[in-house]
Amino acid sequence: MPFAYPIEAMAIGERPAVHPHPEVRSGRDTLGGRYLRSFWQPVFHSADIAPGQAMPLRIMGQDFTLYRGASGAPIVVDARCPHRGAQLSAGWVDGEGLRCFYHGWRFGADGACLEQPAEGSAFRDKVAIRSYPAREYLGLIFAYLGDGDAPAFPRYPEFDRSVGFIEVDSYVRACNAFQNLENALDMSHVEFVHHDNAASFSGIGTGLQLEATESPWGVTYRYTRPDGAVRVQQFGMPNVFYMTALPTDAEIGWQESLFWWVPIDDTTHMQFSLHRVPATGDAGASIRARRESRRSTIDIAHQDLCDRILAGELALRDVDAARVDLVRLQDDIAQIGQGRIADRDRERLGRGDVGVIAIRKLWHRELAALERDAPRTTWQRPPEIVPSAWMLDGTSTLAGRDAVAGSAPDIVDVRPLVEVDVQLRALRRTGALAERD
Ligand code: FES
Ligand SMILES: [Fe+2]
Repeated sequence: MPFAYPIEAMAIGERPAVHPHPEVRSGRDTLGGRYLRSFWQPVFHSADIAPGQAMPLRIMGQDFTLYRGASGAPIVVDARCPHRGAQLSAGWVDGEGLRCFYHGWRFGADGACLEQPAEGSAFRDKVAIRSYPAREYLGLIFAYLGDGDAPAFPRYPEFDRSVGFIEVDSYVRACNAFQNLENALDMSHVEFVHHDNAASFSGIGTGLQLEATESPWGVTYRYTRPDGAVRVQQFGMPNVFYMTALPTDAEIGWQESLFWWVPIDDTTHMQFSLHRVPATGDAGASIRARRESRRSTIDIAHQDLCDRILAGELALRDVDAARVDLVRLQDDIAQIGQGRIADRDRERLGRGDVGVIAIRKLWHRELAALERDAPRTTWQRPPEIVPSAWMLDGTSTLAGRDAVAGSAPDIVDVRPLVEVDVQLRALRRTGALAERD
């Protein structure tokens, strides 16, 4: 059923009796944070941590320790030692367990305290750290950071078995995660923010041609082009998007993609991104080689350029587009330009914002239920909930949907190296480090 329009109907009559924008808060004790924590979330890249390595991890304003034991399995536990609060990531990985740097207390992968060298294990049964369910999937490390038992792990069959390969191309952005999530269901921005992209044209995302309807998974978002061709995007509650992303390589065209927007805290977030590239043989090899060289050709962090552009020191037209991820820079300028947390109370929403309105309504409904301890919607994605888009040569054929068969694909990390640096600094920046600044 289509979402009600205009927004005033919701703002006055249906706004739940909770904080007007609880979805922008992700801390452990906030309504938004509790809701996000009730789903599995990607928290790190498999490629960024080796067996025997431990590191601090900050997700949803909460500090954790991420390590890989000797077997290589990823393990997520609390940030601090229960003895006197030392940072556990500075300790030693010991088999599948972790030994504290300060006085050597040793913890198993399940969080149980196994040794207290200075105490003779006098009260080790009475202390433990929390260990959070974690697993790897499609080149990402996922964790369940909520209370109680973890829900079933959601898989994506289109990505499990795929012709060609899958690119991992995530990035960090210094604004509230919800701003990026809303931007995904805001096709009107493409004509302006990405006016130079192969997919852009005058009139793309015209409000009257946009439609947002609730689906069993979240929101189905459609745009109908003047000639009748349709682009369909699928938003999955609470923070997943299955879409055709804007082309960044002419040979690949639209990229069938999965995105998760995960807060590092309320003013910085990760977009974990996977793209299917249904190319094999020589075509696949040449795309992979091009993507590999792009990792170092792009040597300027889009985040730094965005800061300079928003500070008035630089204009976008003066940026060397070969040395930066242009689509990300363009979206940085739009979204961070709204403020680290956008001031929604001054917004004037219109017909082009039906996607934004749809997401907010679902989130408000679910958070109101969570606050009342009432049943919440069980989201699931039936096989027909898939994205599609017209081919870029102007025909209205679906893009990417012919490549569902195949075997377990290679996972190829295509993140620019400069981007990996920015990400690691953001994800490993503990609250204690932030307080020191
Ligand atoms: S603070 Fe960890 S063992 Fe003492
Ligand atoms: Fe964009």
